[in-house]
Amino acid sequence: MSRVVVTGRIPEAALEKLRAEHEVDAWTGQDSIDRDELLRRVAGADAIVSLLTERIDGELLDAAGPQLRVVANVAVGYDNIDVPACRERDVVATNTPGVLTEATADIAFGLILMATRRLGEGERLIRSGTAWKWGMFFLLGSSLQGKTLGVVGMGGIGQATARRAKAFGMEVVYQSRSEIDPAVAEELGARRVELDELLSVSDVVSLHCPYGPATHHLIGAEQLAAMKESAYLVNTARGPIIDEEALAAALRAGLIAGAGLDVYEHEPRVHPDLLDLDNVALVPHLGSATVETRTAMATLAADNAIAVLARQEPPTPIR
Ligand code: GLV
Ligand code: GLV
Repeated sequence: MSRVVVTGRIPEAALEKLRAEHEVDAWTGQDSIDRDELLRRVAGADAIVSLLTERIDGELLDAAGPQLRVVANVAVGYDNIDVPACRERDVVATNTPGVLTEATADIAFGLILMATRRLGEGERLIRSGTAWKWGMFFLLGSSLQGKTLGVVGMGGIGQATARRAKAFGMEVVYQSRSEIDPAVAEELGARRVELDELLSVSDVVSLHCPYGPATHHLIGAEQLAAMKESAYLVNTARGPIIDEEALAAALRAGLIAGAGLDVYEHEPRVHPDLLDLDNVALVPHLGSATVETRTAMATLAADNAIAVLARQEPPTPIR
């Protein structure tokens, strides 16, 4: 039996899996665990099952001790984990790719529709009690058919978003560090371009790249200025990929038509200027937030932890 520390509340199915084989110490508070409490709890842990709200760095790994074997993140993004610090200590780090792909692409497309069809504005209008009626020119948005979606980061989630765009009659261009499966590119009729071209030809730009030093403020004032004035920007990846201050300025100045955000640069804080703008749809990091998806993510994280503790190859290690 090994000791497994779970840093926050996760679905019962995953806890049961862990408890069947190991001693589990799970934080059950409604709020995130505070740092000092976490540093105390991890002492003596063989495995840590972490949420993206917890920073897993050298200090925390050392607080756990040299017996620590695995950090299993319940998220596909792992910018909360210092992966080199794990490697230096022979700790395996894992994430949860694949299982949240469709749910996240659904939210990306939901935000595309919210932004282009002004759904949030319409909802706020009705709830405000303002009188309204159907009108030829009332709350007109922008159609998607025949328009171009630019996907930044063509991994699983980018591809799933592109597939939805195709069903909506959109053309797809994408920017990607690595070559994608040619069969997928062909199925989607997607053309690979550089970021500059993507920004200038896209009617909707959707971000699906990982966050790290290479993508910090990937979209700033210059990139926003390169977009069409009629274009929309959607982010379901990580907040700091966008310079939020520059985005608020661009939205206010009409440099782009609108935006849809699920993630924020200083999450959970939202830039106050964005809150005052009507042409941005704001939702609170809901990309993977379905019962089915969160259960699958937590179960995969549990499988990763259990495999490493059994000295087996985990299903989804971070490479
Ligand atoms: C959610 O944001 C994730 O990375 O899984
Ligand atoms: C998600 O599953 C991804 O790997 O992009």
